[in-house]
Amino acid sequence: MVGRTAPSPLDDRARSVAERLHARSRRQLLPAVLPMAAHAVRSRWRTGSWDSTQTPEGKEWLADKLVALDPEKAALCYLLCRALRAKRVVEVGTSYGVSTIYLAAAVRDTLAEDGGEGVVIGTEHEPAKVAAARAHLDEAGLGRFAEVREGDLRETLRDLAGPVDFVLVDIWIPMALPALELLTPALRPGALVVCDNVVAGRSEYAGYLDLVRRPGGPFRSVTLAAGGGLEVSLKTGP
Ligand SMILES: C[S@@+](CC[C@H](N)C(=O)[O-])C[C@H]1O[C@@H](n2cnc3c(N)ncnc32)[C@H](O)[C@@H]1O
Repeated sequence: MVGRTAPSPLDDRARSVAERLHARSRRQLLPAVLPMAAHAVRSRWRTGSWDSTQTPEGKEWLADKLVALDPEKAALCYLLCRALRAKRVVEVGTSYGVSTIYLAAAVRDTLAEDGGEGVVIGTEHEPAKVAAARAHLDEAGLGRFAEVREGDLRETLRDLAGPVDFVLVDIWIPMALPALELLTPALRPGALVVCDNVVAGRSEYAGYLDLVRRPGGPFRSVTLAAGGGLEVSLKTGP
């Protein structure tokens, strides 16, 4: 029988870890709808923005949440990395390492065909999430293909030591534009940048979307509307 969606591109070992974490992330989200709405309303009232990720109560509440990328979006990132033969990948927002598993699997599978060296550089500012992400990558058999940098991305992603083939931006929205501005000079022509939730959060993403969609700018971009939206942007020039 034909399944509702295509099967995961991950090998069995990585898939079992990813599926367990996707399920845990979904279980956290359902009871979170009301608290998230309350945080958003309070943030709007106090700061003028619906985004509560930068307020002290929002930060505290989100500190142990996975907020993992949807499995289909993560699988798309795997396929895009494989199509690009990406060896140097940056992940902006690692959390517990769910999307990192897909990116690291893609780098491993490309290296198996092409040889050479490669890595996913992830970053996360919650120390407990960093420790968990490293443990999950090891459990998935992918630890040696990923480096999770602990700290604020505006510091941890300054030194990338080489051109970047693919970036996943899956971060609290106010950090998306600073991350892209920091990473743009490191992107090779033809690199792809994928950013989650751009339709659901489009007013908060205005600066980011302006940069990737600007006529004559350094990107060509397309918006996929499903599941809160996904922006896929191609770095066109040097
Ligand atoms: C949406 S979650 C990432 C989910 C992850 N990509 C996955 O699929 O499992 C965003 C993460 O970014 C982290 N984060 C937010 N602001 C950050 C910053 N300035 N520097 C580093 N990490 C940050 C949060 O702690 C959170 O865990």
